[in-house]
Amino acid sequence: MNRDELLQWLTETNPERLGSLWAQADAVRRKHVGDEVHLRGLLEISSHCVRHCLYCGLRAPNRDLPRYRMNTDEILACARQAADFGYGTVVLQSGEDPGLTNDFIADVIRRIKSDTPLAVTLSLGERSEQELAAWRAAGADRYLLRFETSNARLYAAIHPSLPGRRSDRIALLRQLRELEYEIGGGVMIGIPGQTFEDLADDIEWFARLDLDMIGVGPFIPHPATPLGQDAGQSRVCNQVPNNEEMTCKVMALARLICPEANIPATTALATLDRRNGMELGLTRGGNVVMPNLTPAVYRRRYDIYPEKANIQEAAPECLGSVERGIIRLGRRIGQGRGDSANYLRRRSAASWKA
Ligand code: 5AD
Repeated sequence: MNRDELLQWLTETNPERLGSLWAQADAVRRKHVGDEVHLRGLLEISSHCVRHCLYCGLRAPNRDLPRYRMNTDEILACARQAADFGYGTVVLQSGEDPGLTNDFIADVIRRIKSDTPLAVTLSLGERSEQELAAWRAAGADRYLLRFETSNARLYAAIHPSLPGRRSDRIALLRQLRELEYEIGGGVMIGIPGQTFEDLADDIEWFARLDLDMIGVGPFIPHPATPLGQDAGQSRVCNQVPNNEEMTCKVMALARLICPEANIPATTALATLDRRNGMELGLTRGGNVVMPNLTPAVYRRRYDIYPEKANIQEAAPECLGSVERGIIRLGRRIGQGRGDSANYLRRRSAASWKA
């Protein structure tokens, strides 16, 4: 698909033609990754964050948010629960928290790997190459780091660098690929100041980076952030809307362009449409769901954006509604780790060359 076609789809409003985009994405999904929907247990291990991102409720200047950091025993108990639920993967996610030290995380990874058959996915922000290498050596399988937008000016405006350390997530993703992680990136849809051209670039970057996992969700304004208080001043004339349809278009195009990637129906999408969000995502390109495993006492404090779907539900209830939704679509719960077909192909090509 060339760039003009991408832009055409991104700006398409005709319901019939959009119906054909959803159908194509669903067919490509079935052909390349099948009917299994892989479940990843999402564990939000720390809400501490040193960054000042203009969109995120965890930003350091948000002093109203009581912070928490889970200890090793708590994390392990939740990982065992993930395995008991039959998940293949646990995702350890946090703000950018230096209190999660290299040794602490390496130890947690080793223990999860020795106690359970789970794949371990990290989503801990921009960390040093030394840490990323140590965690890979400790047994981590995958790393999620959305680049949020490929528009460098917009990115710099909403995601200030730390002093003396320029934030370059695209470079970090390449580093993670060199370390032989299965790599995940993605963007938010409808960031104030984001244009349709930006989204076309983002989708081209998904392919260029050869992403194994692609996470896209709508931007949801958080009142305790500068972008949440922005009353439209940052919008541009070619502004992308932060709605469901726009999010689904990017998911569907990502599926067409990266047919073997794992693509989640994100929590943010389910937050916009509690009744149908997950089902829409799974029928318009998605093949993964990430039920929340975070203990109830902490969940409310992982306040990235308001009204996160399932915030009130404990883990077993969350799982029940997700499983029922998958079955209703005539799909199956994924068995095993659910490694990305894209990654397996890249690894086998590499070993063949060697
Ligand atoms: N709305 C939607 N998504 C958000 N994220 C952070 N803040 C928001 C928000 N206000 C997303 C970012 C980040 C992921 C963990 O959550 O894309 O990478």
